[in-house]
Amino acid sequence: MNHGEQAASALGRPWRAPRDHSGPTFVTARGAWLADREGHRVIDATSGALNVFCGHGVESIVDAYLSQLRTLAHVDMSQGLAEPAHLLAERLRDIPGHGGDRFFFANSGSEAIELAVKISSLYWVAVDSRRTDIVTFERGYHGSTSLCQSLSGLPQTGTTPDRCGSGVHRLGFGEFTGAGQRSSEAREHIAEQLRTMLADTAAGTVLVEPFLNVGGGIRLPEGLLADIRRICDEYGTLLVLDEVFTGLGRTGAWFAQEHDGVRADLTAFSKGLTNGVCALSAVAVGSGLLERLPAGGIVSYGHTMSASAAACTAASATLEYMRRTGAVDAAAGIGRRLLGELGRALHGTDGVLDVRGHGLALSVEFDSADTAESVQQVAYDLGAYTRQQGGTVMLAPPACLSGEEEDRLADHVVTAVRKVVAAQ
Ligand SMILES: Cc1ncc(COP(=O)(O)O)c(C=O)c1O
Repeated sequence: MNHGEQAASALGRPWRAPRDHSGPTFVTARGAWLADREGHRVIDATSGALNVFCGHGVESIVDAYLSQLRTLAHVDMSQGLAEPAHLLAERLRDIPGHGGDRFFFANSGSEAIELAVKISSLYWVAVDSRRTDIVTFERGYHGSTSLCQSLSGLPQTGTTPDRCGSGVHRLGFGEFTGAGQRSSEAREHIAEQLRTMLADTAAGTVLVEPFLNVGGGIRLPEGLLADIRRICDEYGTLLVLDEVFTGLGRTGAWFAQEHDGVRADLTAFSKGLTNGVCALSAVAVGSGLLERLPAGGIVSYGHTMSASAAACTAASATLEYMRRTGAVDAAAGIGRRLLGELGRALHGTDGVLDVRGHGLALSVEFDSADTAESVQQVAYDLGAYTRQQGGTVMLAPPACLSGEEEDRLADHVVTAVRKVVAAQ
């Protein structure tokens, strides 16, 4: 065991076996680049944990955060208030595409999902207590707390006992795979399932991601979100969108629901909020809905660090930076060009099942997880750090990529695929 492995042996590693020390150890990051302990530099096509949307080490965000830490780091929101939380809520209200006018803050994406589900459950307690069931996607991922694991449909992401499985109904793609998942037939198939579920069950809430991130990097078929909204309206069902991954820019819009012209009743978001500087998540909700909750709309929730002044300041600085630099439009442009490059080069290649993308979230799907793993490794050696999830290699770089970095990233991934395929 080398020094790094020995140090890492004290660390409980999420999603990995206790003795699994595989993967690089990173020591520095700047812009779109990471450097590992061996001094190898790679383009970070994982954006940290998919959350460093503007690039690593943005001075204005880091400075604002540090300065707020020195002035007033945090107070307890149940007792008093801090200005940065008000300012952030006001800024978020001005951002298009989420349908909310009040914002509750938590720390992780999982907490935001739990909070959104809690608000929808409180609503149903007040309006019709029979409608506590929830509809989610078979391949959805909503976080790793026990409730979120119960709501998620992916077997590989949850082994804790199911807490509310009996009230969860799952939508699935059925026989549709690869590019077929984007087809109008897949859209009809899913919409029909939802209609049947809402007619046959007591479901009061539909919880979906506009883009199945952990579930394979899959954008829902175009127009499906609008169908889901329409069907929810027909049945008086609440639509909760999990925009933890897509929220704030990733798909080339501030929120992914904008693409389909949809407004959710509740939107949970997190990853793009502080550019990876600190933990923060949020739920956007309409005050009309809040007014219908029991106890005058009191939402009984809160974590020690909820809406910390420093985190809210980091988020405000992130929003300001994104607006000033046009990061959302940049993401759309870079994503479109990368998808074009990867599609042209890899379409029809042996072992490649699909090349797809939604803004700056691109996926190359292979015929096996082994191929995807080899591609990730070879791409790393060439200088591109990608994310492997099962048979899919995902690229979610920050929106600060220069034209040259964009070309390099596409080139490294294409070269890696060709090398791996040639060796098979
Ligand atoms: C769509 C989605 N929902 C929820 C979560 C959970 O967020 P967190 O890991 O911050 O708890 C994630 C995390 O990847 C996610 O991608």
